Amino acid sequence: MERRAAVAAQARSIAAAWSPPGAPPSWWLTAETFTGIAEDDVLLDLAVAIAPDRLPALLLSAALRRRVTQARPDPLAGYYPAPGGPQPPRDGGFRPALREFAAADAEAIAALCAAHRYQMNEVGRCLDVLPALGAVAAADPRPLALIDLGTGAGLGLHLDRYAYRYVLPDGSALHAGDPASPVRLSCAVRTPMPQVQVQVPAVVHRVGVDAEPLDVTDPDTAAWLAACIPPEAGAVTRFAAALDVAAAHPVPAVRGDLLDVLGGVVADVPAAALLCLVDTYVHVFLPPDRLARFHALIDEIGRERDLEWVSVDPLVPLGPAADRSVQGLDVPPAWLLDNREGGVFGLVGRVSVRGGRRTGTVLGRAHPSSAWLEWLSDPHRDLGIC
Ligand SMILES: C[S@@+](CC[C@H](N)C(=O)[O-])C[C@H]1O[C@@H](n2cnc3c(N)ncnc32)[C@H](O)[C@@H]1O
Repeated sequence: MERRAAVAAQARSIAAAWSPPGAPPSWWLTAETFTGIAEDDVLLDLAVAIAPDRLPALLLSAALRRRVTQARPDPLAGYYPAPGGPQPPRDGGFRPALREFAAADAEAIAALCAAHRYQMNEVGRCLDVLPALGAVAAADPRPLALIDLGTGAGLGLHLDRYAYRYVLPDGSALHAGDPASPVRLSCAVRTPMPQVQVQVPAVVHRVGVDAEPLDVTDPDTAAWLAACIPPEAGAVTRFAAALDVAAAHPVPAVRGDLLDVLGGVVADVPAAALLCLVDTYVHVFLPPDRLARFHALIDEIGRERDLEWVSVDPLVPLGPAADRSVQGLDVPPAWLLDNREGGVFGLVGRVSVRGGRRTGTVLGRAHPSSAWLEWLSDPHRDLGIC
């Protein structure tokens, strides 16, 4: 596909993910931003100038957002939600205002794109990890040593410091976590309630691993990360609150390729803790040979100690041709079909190693920004060998 058409198609698919039938009204600005990138020449020109492997549409959306925050152009700035604030309403003025600003500010926007990479941190994914940890804790009372692989800003390392609300189809809700937390995470559960421990399992050791760990106390870093968040009121609010929590509770972050550093990180984990590796939207980006090396590493570590690997990742290879999970688990055929037809979700899975024996199971699937969760709720079924 010609490059321009390919970038436009990427932008259109992101816009579609933010505008399904019944989408919450607060999703309009994200959907319109990506529709604009797909359809408006001034925006598409900027996106096409970005190297294909740097996620052009997403990187441009972040640069636009960052420049709007810096320059506060009127009326454009007024369309964006502030942390804790409402979603400004939709009207016909946004797209023309965005076009006009991009044309006038093209040089500065392009410079931001050249200097940064797109770095998404979605703290809402803790809503998907928590029930997986509940399933772990139901069978193993050991406190957890949490290793967040591809941790980015490290927001996933504080999952015991957040308040959770799971809203069931009948409107009732289950609350978990720290009720006083400023980070309030909520999702709709489309299926019977997963096994959530109201009290989050104890975390006695936590470490992040990232090729490029982020210092969330640096104002420029924080501002860029905020620009990478979709301009949706809920996402903007939970990200800002989580960033404050991460800044207040520094956790060691090990810089390096996870394949290279994991062995050393694991060596420091207290023997009495249950080693729990978490990856959200990381292993999906590992090429097949590197993913195979990670599996071999799991087996190697598993010969020395028990472990859990909780993954929330799209199916691989990323895109409609996907036919498997990063953990090598059996994916429900209906979900494979859904993915082929453009459904966007992260598969929630769990691989366990006990006494050197490896088992695993798909637990559920979730919206990438944690709007909903579906659970395969049979907590008593055996984990299959994988
Ligand atoms: C899409 S972000 C996800 C961040 C976070 N886990 C979340 O879900 O919000 C992927 C992160 O993984 C990191 N990463 C990707 N490949 C990596 C590797 N091989 N080793 C270590 N970190 C990696 C990136 O730097 C980035 O911070």
